[in-house]
Amino acid sequence: MSETKTERGNWNSKLGFVLAAAGSAVGLGNIWGFPTQVADNGGASFILIYVICCLIVGLPVMIAEFAIGRHTRRNPVGAFKKLGNGWFPPLIGLWGVMCGVMILSFYLVIAGWTVGYIFEEIFYYLGIVAASEWVSDLENGIKNAFFAILFMIATVGIITGGVSNGIERATKTLMPILILVLIIMIGYVFTLQGSMEGLRMYLLPDLTAINTDLVFSALGQAFFSLSLGMGALLTYGSYLKKNQNIVESATYVTIADMGIAFLAGLLIIPAMFVAQHAGITIMDEDGNLFASTTLVFDVLPNLFKSMGGFFGLIFGSSFFILLSMAALTSTISLLEVPVSYIIDEHKIARKKAAMIVGGLVLAISLIISFNIGLIDLLATIFNNVGLPLGGLMLSLFLAWFWKTENAIEEIRSGYENLDHGYFQNVWTLFIKYICPVLIALVLITTLYNLVS
Ligand code: PHE
Repeated sequence: MSETKTERGNWNSKLGFVLAAAGSAVGLGNIWGFPTQVADNGGASFILIYVICCLIVGLPVMIAEFAIGRHTRRNPVGAFKKLGNGWFPPLIGLWGVMCGVMILSFYLVIAGWTVGYIFEEIFYYLGIVAASEWVSDLENGIKNAFFAILFMIATVGIITGGVSNGIERATKTLMPILILVLIIMIGYVFTLQGSMEGLRMYLLPDLTAINTDLVFSALGQAFFSLSLGMGALLTYGSYLKKNQNIVESATYVTIADMGIAFLAGLLIIPAMFVAQHAGITIMDEDGNLFASTTLVFDVLPNLFKSMGGFFGLIFGSSFFILLSMAALTSTISLLEVPVSYIIDEHKIARKKAAMIVGGLVLAISLIISFNIGLIDLLATIFNNVGLPLGGLMLSLFLAWFWKTENAIEEIRSGYENLDHGYFQNVWTLFIKYICPVLIALVLITTLYNLVS
């Protein structure tokens, strides 16, 4: 279907939608965030809690976002406005738009680092030391700003292309390449000394490491990685045709996202131990893994260098190309939320909307480029608290105002066997009680720990 300036787009194919949603989900959160959190939180026990969060909170909320989006065919603000009366419902959507803007603003800086590192690998190989040091200096504001601008231009370019021509086409080609490169690299790392030690830490949980901090991090990570709580997938759902099975699609997206995070960890945790074998420090004096925001940009480039020569160049550059591609399909969806809001609610054409919002977000990114210490703070506020809070409001709203019966009615379309299975009862139970209670508990406990 061709898109005119004001007409809302549609996904062209079922697979196209699943890949676009998976493209949104799979990003820095999987390849940079997940392994960092695993290393930070004692390995396999984090994975265990993370999987539970994805399946019992993430998946039901994702189904809810798709259903609200497809039913209303609106951006998050318009969607809640349409479903409920009064001043409060649109605020849930506005909160999402705000989280989108703020998350995108620091996401761009990190995405910029990944692009910078593609060049770092090349300059290093060519022996241009000064240039390779310049692009790998994460605190260089000018350099950060330069790559953030570059990344925003790419994002706006694709968004301007519209739903099926821009977003769908881009993700359809990028996703499969991403998985392939990841698998090849894992295969390689497993042939190196030290990798088995990493594998053990990655797969054997130490249950004593589980505490409230870990659960809070895992829940925040699940929301961030699955792109939930701010209406990104609600917006993608608003371009969805009635004959697509929402539950099936959400299941695919969740599995793909968890799978790729798992693969990324399978690469990076063993790679850290390989690096240790090569003489690089990966632990502090207490034996805790050295896992900061910059893990991926620290240990891995060193690993690539230790491979030496052309080999290092190929692995290093393809890894960072991969990471940039994954980030791009996510920045697209982050920007699509405020852009669709402006298109729908303020009747501004897509191209203009993308440029206005893109410019605004970029302005914040430039400030962060020069103060990267802000990233941790913003991530705590808008990912770890903001997204679960958005998810909490969304599930409460759906369950108690829009009503689960109406949501089920929407989900029924495209899901022929719905009435013959347990889905209705199980999902209703989760979205009405289990998800809100769990999210609220985690948020309250964390706040309590903070102030006490
Ligand atoms: N899920 C993306 C990632 O893992 C980030 C994201 C969050 C995208 C929220 C859209 C909305 O990198």
